[in-house]
Amino acid sequence: MIVAGRNEEEVSEMGVLAINGGKPTRTKPFHKWPVFDEREVQALREVVESGQWWGRTKGSKVEQFEEAFARYQHARHCIGCTNGTIALYLALRAVGVKPGEEVIVPPYTFIASASSVLDVGAVPVFADIDPTTMTLDPQAVEAAITPRTSAIMAVHIAGRPCDMDALTEIAKRHGLALIEDAAQAHGASWKGRRVGAIGDAGGFSFQASKNITAGEGGAVTTDDDEIAEKVWSLHNCGRSRVGEWYAHYIIGGNHRMTEWQAAILLVQLQRADELHAKRQRNANYLNSLLKELEVVEPLREDERVTEHAYHLFIFRYFPERMGNVPKAKFIEALRAEGIPASPGYKPLYREPAFSKSALDWHPYARHYDYSKVKCPVTERVCDHEAVWLKQEIFLGEPEDMEDIARAIKKVRDNYRELL
Ligand SMILES: Cc1ncc(COP(=O)(O)O)c(C=O)c1O
Repeated sequence: MIVAGRNEEEVSEMGVLAINGGKPTRTKPFHKWPVFDEREVQALREVVESGQWWGRTKGSKVEQFEEAFARYQHARHCIGCTNGTIALYLALRAVGVKPGEEVIVPPYTFIASASSVLDVGAVPVFADIDPTTMTLDPQAVEAAITPRTSAIMAVHIAGRPCDMDALTEIAKRHGLALIEDAAQAHGASWKGRRVGAIGDAGGFSFQASKNITAGEGGAVTTDDDEIAEKVWSLHNCGRSRVGEWYAHYIIGGNHRMTEWQAAILLVQLQRADELHAKRQRNANYLNSLLKELEVVEPLREDERVTEHAYHLFIFRYFPERMGNVPKAKFIEALRAEGIPASPGYKPLYREPAFSKSALDWHPYARHYDYSKVKCPVTERVCDHEAVWLKQEIFLGEPEDMEDIARAIKKVRDNYRELL
């Protein structure tokens, strides 16, 4: 047998794992992203030809999208904006978080969950996560509360809702605002209620990787009329919906969604249900396959998570069950097998952006020493356990899930080649 120009003897010397020159489990690419068709092109053409290029007019595509997305997320209000980072900033300001106050944030998330807090002048305080869900651990949240705490940032990481029962109870008992970072959680639901307006306000992202996308984009959702008006004003230069054009009631900014974004998003929303169901079906199947592989484990099942958006599929790898092969090496071996796995986040407080010198611009956070923060679960998960697969992989067929499981099994069975 000749493999890539080598004879059989050479190949067996090199090993069976693809990382060592063996035949990869899979060479076929996974599902492509973004998903689009002629309808997106047509929607953009309509905007061009209408001459109505600005989104803040009556009946605009931005307004239509806001109504449709509010309905989709079971929220009374939705305000479109430029991106998810700004959505969180607007939500924090609208619920009244003030400079110098503290907001509890998980360190296992994208930087915007914390940078938005810094942007309103407040200070992120990190609370650890539950390793079986990767979302905020309510007990750690409770322990992080100080007299300066004014809000909790509940990040529905990977598209899996946080324990909203526990976080709502803690927020109520301590008089804190509850913001949902739902940037990855389109269509996700907790006990049948979609996320985004379970807490006081939520922020969504429509950036290129997200399950519903226009390349960039964001939205704030809320059930609270006053918060909705405040967000609307903040995102539109401090104007009021009923005031004169040059009347500015608060200091806001121009954070308006464009008509182009909304045109694309309206079409994306039409196929969201179909793709959402497909991701869940394939992810459930992969979870069932992973249960048999011993060296990895799926995350905990919780019947209160009624819909997982699976923006990411995260599973846990246990190096000690596989001769202490480091996570990075395990991922490298999987990638060589044709499975585009990735290691995911580092603990946010370890990012250079949280060093004393990098925070010298911030009037309050400069007095905090993030080098002393320790969230052991997050550190263990980041360094050793969490492995990610992206959402588009789950838009394919059940056979794709079987390839992933086969590749993990192959790496497991031949891990000595990695030592
Ligand atoms: C958890 C989380 N929060 C916030 C954001 C910020 O969204 P955007 O990139 O649209 O600003 C993202 C996405 O990138 C995210 O994944």
